[in-house]
Amino acid sequence: MLRRSLSVLAQTSKSSSILTQYAFKHTGSGKPPKILITGGLGQLGIECAKLMRNEYGDSNVILSDIIKPSDAVVNQGPYIFADILDFKGLQKIVVDHRVDWIIHFSALLSAIGEQNVPLAVRVNIEGVHNVIELAKQYNLRVFVPSTIGAFGPDSPRNPTPNVTVQRPRTIYGVSKVHAELIGEYYYHKFGLDFRCLRFPGVISSDPPGGGTTDYAVAIFHEALKSGKYNCYLKPDTRLPMMYIEDCLRSLLEFMRAPSDQLKRRVYNVTAMSFTPEELVDKLSKYVPDLHVTYNPDSRQDIADSWPQVFDDSEARRDWNWKPKYDLDSLVDLMVRDVKENYINPKDGKTKG
Ligand SMILES: NC(=O)c1ccc[n+]([C@@H]2O[C@H](COP(=O)([O-])OP(=O)(O)OC[C@H]3O[C@@H](n4cnc5c(N)ncnc54)[C@H](O)[C@@H]3O)[C@@H](O)[C@H]2O)c1
Repeated sequence: MLRRSLSVLAQTSKSSSILTQYAFKHTGSGKPPKILITGGLGQLGIECAKLMRNEYGDSNVILSDIIKPSDAVVNQGPYIFADILDFKGLQKIVVDHRVDWIIHFSALLSAIGEQNVPLAVRVNIEGVHNVIELAKQYNLRVFVPSTIGAFGPDSPRNPTPNVTVQRPRTIYGVSKVHAELIGEYYYHKFGLDFRCLRFPGVISSDPPGGGTTDYAVAIFHEALKSGKYNCYLKPDTRLPMMYIEDCLRSLLEFMRAPSDQLKRRVYNVTAMSFTPEELVDKLSKYVPDLHVTYNPDSRQDIADSWPQVFDDSEARRDWNWKPKYDLDSLVDLMVRDVKENYINPKDGKTKG
């Protein structure tokens, strides 16, 4: 994965060096930004740290979480404990490490959030309050991801535009709408450099964190291990998705975009939309005897209230967002990633 992240960056290095100069200017010192990633040991955090470190240097990207890290994580660069609910602790980190940007990943995802609503309220809402207030106090640029789950059954589902009705029915969705609105409020009221992308289901070989789109990761692991998969969504459930490299590149490009180029502080981004049966059809080319059963559970209700096709035309227009991977290339890369990291790892140790 790292190898490919680097090669993607190498391909975009010409435009990125211009952008990098801009980004460095943002810190006001001609130096690269010092970046803190919260909730960094989840599906997105470790890969995001690799990408940012490749751009800005190992020591300039601090990964943090409340989980004890593996040796591999610690060997890759700075790692510290940061509980998003401890405001003073966060202040100390920002001051001690002279942080310029916060990438705020800590959250309880949609399916897990429904199982523990009070904790989801604390982590997803109180945590965002802390980060936004911290960013205001210390004049930080702050990124908070939102999601297709910030929409609900009253929203147009195909396509779902950037601005429309948002009445989600999960605590995850409610907390993400709250994050979007409080961030925009601080931008308008205090000039906070708040940036937010609504991601679709993100697909990578690493284990996902308990969301409704997790099947699109789990199916690769199960299919390549056993040739079977029991899917918790109906075969025709269409959801927007994105390969992790596209997701993290969108984050990097968005963080570097000059502020005056951004007509909004919250943008939809996506790469593709597919159903379980469309994914199974592609995966069957690699696993010819693949046997998939469908037993919808409570996640079906969540998926039925979410966008089917995401309209990211405003991101494309304002800061030139363009995905690289479609369903064919995604399946090809995932089969390779899962085999390399989990099924036949070279050193005998699986990545997880
Ligand atoms: N993965 C996706 O498909 C997807 C899609 C849309 C949006 N997002 C958003 O991207 C962000 C990262 O997603 P992910 O998939 O990596 O999530 P994840 O569930 O894999 O990781 C979240 C991390 O937050 C940490 N955390 C929990 N409580 C914390 C606390 N009190 N203090 C600090 N950290 C705490 C957890 O330990 C975990 O490592 C989330 O905000 C999520 O809503 C993800």
